[in-house]
Amino acid sequence: MIFYFSGTGNSKWIAEQVATHQHERLISIADELSSGDNLLEYTLGETEAVGFVFPIYSWAPPAIVMEFIKKAHFANAQGHYFFYVCSCGDEVGLTQDIMNKIVRRKEWEWQAGFSVIMPNNYVCLPGFDTDPKEVEEKKLKEAVVEVKRINERISERAAPLFECKKGSWAFLKSRIIWPFFNKYQVTAKPFFATDDCISCGLCEKHCPVHNVKVDIKPTWGEHCTSCLACYHICPRHAVHYGKATLKKHQYFHSEFK
Ligand SMILES: Cc1cc2nc3c(=O)[nH]c(=O)nc-3n(C[C@H](O)[C@H](O)[C@H](O)COP(=O)(O)O)c2cc1C
Repeated sequence: MIFYFSGTGNSKWIAEQVATHQHERLISIADELSSGDNLLEYTLGETEAVGFVFPIYSWAPPAIVMEFIKKAHFANAQGHYFFYVCSCGDEVGLTQDIMNKIVRRKEWEWQAGFSVIMPNNYVCLPGFDTDPKEVEEKKLKEAVVEVKRINERISERAAPLFECKKGSWAFLKSRIIWPFFNKYQVTAKPFFATDDCISCGLCEKHCPVHNVKVDIKPTWGEHCTSCLACYHICPRHAVHYGKATLKKHQYFHSEFK
């Protein structure tokens, strides 16, 4: 059972690789949460593992992923292999500590956690942009090898095994910057579409939480996750996050465009 959340396709690609290799079901976290059930109940098959695949947002898991893990209940968790794989542009900060805290009161614990470096999609602050084409291609090539290796560890049920790239200044990034990011940056308010918008509806189609509606131009609702799918998928580069993205570039995993 592989649960995933993804904005621009990197985590979805990893989740698909893992689900296929492990012969596991692939389930969208956003779809499960939109079902409206407060307690999400799952029963596991005898040899089934449980994996969570998601991007890193400001050196932490996205709030929607934390919410889902807190709410999810596995009736027969005992003896099953629980793991997570996070996709990041470069590093994950204290994600491992945060993930441990989320499951502290659960009847199961993580056996493994991995990070995979993928093309960066964060563009909303000065100094942040997508990777140059050659870096993007290199990351995607290396990710194929890395995900294959991770799949082998999962198949072996390797445990305990935590291979997350923490990076420098992890406490500052995950404990000091992340709360500010969550409070002030995770909002759809700055999003707008320029007159280049052709009302194609791709931003609406690709928003994982159905927060974008396109009539003549897109409008954004209240439950943005800041995944940036709407910005990166726009074929006219007409969607922007205030002035911050006007001179930035776009990235979307080619398999899901
Ligand atoms: C809001 C936001 C915050 C991000 N913060 C980080 C970060 O702290 N560290 C990092 O390495 N990458 C960061 N990234 C980059 C993504 O984690 C990375 O590109 C990821 O592979 C995107 O996955 P997706 O295509 O499944 O959405 C951030 C991206 C977004 C949209």
